Amino acid sequence: MSTRYSFGPGKVILVGEHGVVYGYPAIAGSLSRGVKATARAAKRPMLKLGRSLAAPAKRSLSRAFEVGLEVAGRPSLEVSLESELPLSMGLGSSGAVSVALSRVLLEKPTAAEVESLSLKMETVFHGRPSGLDHTTSAREGLLWFQKGVARGLTPGKPLQVVVALAGKRRPTKELVEALRERQSRWPRRYQRLFEEIGRLVVEARTAIVGGDLDALGDVMNVNQGLLSALQVSGPKLDGMVQRLRALGAMGAKLTGAGGDGGAVVGLFRDPASAVKQLRREGVECFASELGQVVLP
Ligand code: MEV
Repeated sequence: MSTRYSFGPGKVILVGEHGVVYGYPAIAGSLSRGVKATARAAKRPMLKLGRSLAAPAKRSLSRAFEVGLEVAGRPSLEVSLESELPLSMGLGSSGAVSVALSRVLLEKPTAAEVESLSLKMETVFHGRPSGLDHTTSAREGLLWFQKGVARGLTPGKPLQVVVALAGKRRPTKELVEALRERQSRWPRRYQRLFEEIGRLVVEARTAIVGGDLDALGDVMNVNQGLLSALQVSGPKLDGMVQRLRALGAMGAKLTGAGGDGGAVVGLFRDPASAVKQLRREGVECFASELGQVVLP
């Protein structure tokens, strides 16, 4: 067998994280960065893991690989992974790993087979994921997502974003569970917030399809306010949101689960100059057009 390669892109959620876990809609786009998997014939199946990976990450990657092997009929492949995404920062690294692994382990898989296996792997990483991360990675586009069903969106204008990292955070699973505890204690208050986020997602879709970037930016800013109300933002994320707005973002918000740190997404007309300035300030960041995957 010749060497096989596959790719799973990362993602950002433009609007609707957390609400999506409770059945409200969200809109997400794939990033140009992701995870590459390489498979070579071997005596027995094996996942090669970098020494620098922390033990919990190694454990969940090995468990996800086992799940993949079982479904794929235990092919004798030695698989290695190369990630351009920071781990556990809200950029869908585990969804991207799941998609890259599914594509490389399954023999000529259909899109539905990739989505089904990568969901099984995502469950190893996240417990009860909404399914948004691995679906956005598998479909490589801009998606409206609700209750496990995804529909592609065609933006009226290209969506240029800057993704900036604002320090380490707790795993998604813990953040989602902590919010679930608050929500089950005070359900009516949290339902109001989720409903309002759901309305913002509908408004975002109109803005995206109509190419109204200013309106989309405003939706993102208001969404950030509601994420703060859900108590999933913190000083580092808030500071980075303000920094991106000061650098000209039409809208900026945390993306993913949030917490003490993680990723912030800003919608820009000129992402290159914002990235240049942020890098000068020592901020880890990159620009991407959403839904445009550049295969390595
Ligand atoms: C994680 O990228 C987004 C959350 O909404 C969790 C999920 O959708 O499973 C916080």
